[in-house]
Amino acid sequence: MRSIEAKSFEHLGRLESLSERNMREHLRLYAGYVRKFNELLKKREALQHSPDNYAGADCESLKVDLTYALGAIKNHELYFEILGGMQRGKGAGPEGPLLKAIEADFRSFPQYVADLKQSALLGRGWAWTAYDRDQGGLFNYSGAQNGIPVWNTQPILAIDLYGHAYFYDFGANKASYVDAVVSALDWMKIGQRYEVAMESAGK
Ligand SMILES: [Fe+2]
Repeated sequence: MRSIEAKSFEHLGRLESLSERNMREHLRLYAGYVRKFNELLKKREALQHSPDNYAGADCESLKVDLTYALGAIKNHELYFEILGGMQRGKGAGPEGPLLKAIEADFRSFPQYVADLKQSALLGRGWAWTAYDRDQGGLFNYSGAQNGIPVWNTQPILAIDLYGHAYFYDFGANKASYVDAVVSALDWMKIGQRYEVAMESAGK
């Protein structure tokens, strides 16, 4: 395990449906997770060189906290990376292999969007679209901060559903926030992630 450097995500200051302030505060929170992860990693390395302490309660809680922080970092990086689509043209949606996969698994893009929004509104932490290597298809999942809850899946899209993700722009109006995120999705980047997921599955 290596230390992590926080990414900058400069495009997030230019979203039309989520304010620059909202995204700046969210990036600050993400940077906090990166700092926390690096601190915990250093503590763990110190404990590793002290065999008497390695099996103790401190080490156990470090592992739990490290896992939580790493899950939060990965989820936030995915979420930030796949926003920005409105800059490429309003109404742009998925194309090529991703569109074909969505139509195969959800019948149509509008039905996929309805399912994604439902997964997001029901979720308390995160919603994802992921490719399930065992099932050989796409599915929308709901889960908590420390990672997608299903083995052998490759997430291609993540939506942060914690209050901090929308408080500044939407107050308690989670539904408006979910609409804003869906309208800001960058389908070119999500399509690239889908193709990477397919390659990693040997398809
Ligand atoms: Fe967040």
